[in-house]
Amino acid sequence: MAHGTLVDCMAPKEQRPELERKAAELPKVALNAREQSDLDLIAVGAYSPLEGFMGRKDYEGVRDTMHLANGRPWSLPIILAVDHDQAKSLHDGRDVALTDERGNALAILHLEERYQRDKAHAARAIYRTEDPKHPGVEYLFKRGEVLLGGTVDVLRRQEHRDFREHRFDPAETRKAFAERGWKTVVGFQTRNPIHRAHEYIQKCALEIVDGLFIHPLVGETKSDDIPADVRMKCYQVLLDNYYPKNRTLLGVLPAAMRYAGPREAIFHALVRKNYGCTHFIVGRDHAGVGNFYGSFDAHHIFAEFKDGELGITPLFFDHTFYCKQCVGMASTKTCPHDAAHHVALSGTKVREMLSNGVIPPVEFSRPEVAKILIEAMRQPG
Ligand code: ADX
Repeated sequence: MAHGTLVDCMAPKEQRPELERKAAELPKVALNAREQSDLDLIAVGAYSPLEGFMGRKDYEGVRDTMHLANGRPWSLPIILAVDHDQAKSLHDGRDVALTDERGNALAILHLEERYQRDKAHAARAIYRTEDPKHPGVEYLFKRGEVLLGGTVDVLRRQEHRDFREHRFDPAETRKAFAERGWKTVVGFQTRNPIHRAHEYIQKCALEIVDGLFIHPLVGETKSDDIPADVRMKCYQVLLDNYYPKNRTLLGVLPAAMRYAGPREAIFHALVRKNYGCTHFIVGRDHAGVGNFYGSFDAHHIFAEFKDGELGITPLFFDHTFYCKQCVGMASTKTCPHDAAHHVALSGTKVREMLSNGVIPPVEFSRPEVAKILIEAMRQPG
């Protein structure tokens, strides 16, 4: 399957000093952490075919029909919001310097248009709720009303000190997969430690494809999610002990979590296609939060696209667990036994066990992973 052309929004190296000088003279818009990570992902084509922050036509097309103005599928707005005062100080058709919080220029935005958004409309369309208890909706209502649309020339990548050996750009993963001879690769999105249910669906998928790309999201997550550095230790110990090295690659996705459930499942799949995956795992309540989405809404939304339109094949999994009667991992699809035989623990219960130093049953989590989590909970702060 062709993965499509990767957009490259990095300004050519030889032009950067000149562009930096130019940026110093331009009006500035400071990006927050999420916008900086979006910019970085745009720069390297992780968000192909996007070449910048969305203008009105793309924004409204995505919001209302999950398609860009050019007809390509896309499910989440990638936008740059400012308040009215800042918007008034800018001019359509003129360049703007995008900076980090300290005022260092990161990119030049070729500002095509400033436009007003209807936040309630967006919340309903994207998150299916206007409830500010939803973390995606809370963020949306906090940000400015005016959106800045335009393509970008990126001068500087985000600098990261952590997980360096796992930071691959899409061009690098495509190359890595090809070098390993993987023709089919399944991508796995996660923002949690990998427990047996995750491991089971990954390995079921790996039975039918050549390679597994474990691609945890390490950008902004909500405060009660387990921090990325702890999770990375869990992934590593699991890979070292239980995964075939020649068929598994661990990379990090520096994107922010939106908790948009079904809409985000489509986004996650499209982004993984850009990284070179041919298949993508969508399990129970993918990218969900609280009770905002039905357990399988993130499966159903794929039916809203034409066959082949997304360019990546979703692999759907039902709720998975260990069944004492089956004596193995199973799912509601494959297990005929009553729930009383299943080892399924709620997130709250697991947290309680771990914070008391109790290792959950081996049928739920590998002990090596549980030990790392217990250790992390013991650390002050
Ligand atoms: S997510 O927000 O990144 O989706 P999580 O890390 O928990 O959260 O899930 C990673 C992937 O595993 C998602 O596709 C999710 O649907 C799937 N998943 C998690 N737990 C289960 C489970 N018990 N059964 C089936 N799929 C699951």
